[in-house]
Amino acid sequence: MNEITYRPMCEGDIARVAELERVCFRTPWSYKSLLGELSNDVAYYVVAVCRGTVVGYAGEWIMFDEAHMTNIAVDPEFRKRGIARRMILKLMQEALSRGGERMTLEVRENNHTAQRLYVSLDFAYAGTRKHYYTDTGENALILWNDCIIATYEREMNPADNAADKEDTNA
Ligand SMILES: CC(C)(COP(=O)(O)OP(=O)(O)OC[C@H]1O[C@@H](n2cnc3c(N)ncnc32)[C@H](O)[C@@H]1OP(=O)(O)O)[C@@H](O)C(=O)NCCC(=O)NCCS
Repeated sequence: MNEITYRPMCEGDIARVAELERVCFRTPWSYKSLLGELSNDVAYYVVAVCRGTVVGYAGEWIMFDEAHMTNIAVDPEFRKRGIARRMILKLMQEALSRGGERMTLEVRENNHTAQRLYVSLDFAYAGTRKHYYTDTGENALILWNDCIIATYEREMNPADNAADKEDTNA
């Protein structure tokens, strides 16, 4: 399988990211709004690249100790390979480096695929925004991860954690 690399989004990626937006969302972000994110001091975007082509991206706004995930999408051809998971870990890493401690996001009530991924990364339900999505009137679930360092360290050092478990059970 071809290797996937991850790096911060740059201006040359925007046209492809806007294309992914159109493929992945009913109400896609425009080229202009994505471009604006590059000059937003609180924003951070990561792209996943396979053989020179952007196949996924994710973004966040980091304000004080809180990071708010703004968007995440993966090219349908590249899903279920752990790309989104890895991008969320990249967002956590960047948030931690800027003093972030917690992370929040909104997800459509019916988007069970994304919800499963978030729950596996320790996001928990914290409330509902009624009729949040104007295209369908769907509710948004608000999820929070209150301790991203714990998630980040567990996911990046699975062998250490397995060793801890063995010690505990000994
Ligand atoms: C939600 C989304 C970003 C997930 O992207 P992804 O790269 O497929 O996510 P991951 O691969 O990290 O995880 C998804 C699933 O693949 C599984 N997976 C990961 N690596 C795998 C592998 N090597 N083999 C088999 N399955 C794998 C994960 O366990 C997870 O399984 P689950 O859904 O049964 O829990 C993607 O489906 C998408 O772009 N959807 C449209 C946009 C969207 O809804 N964005 C979210 C807005 S809130």
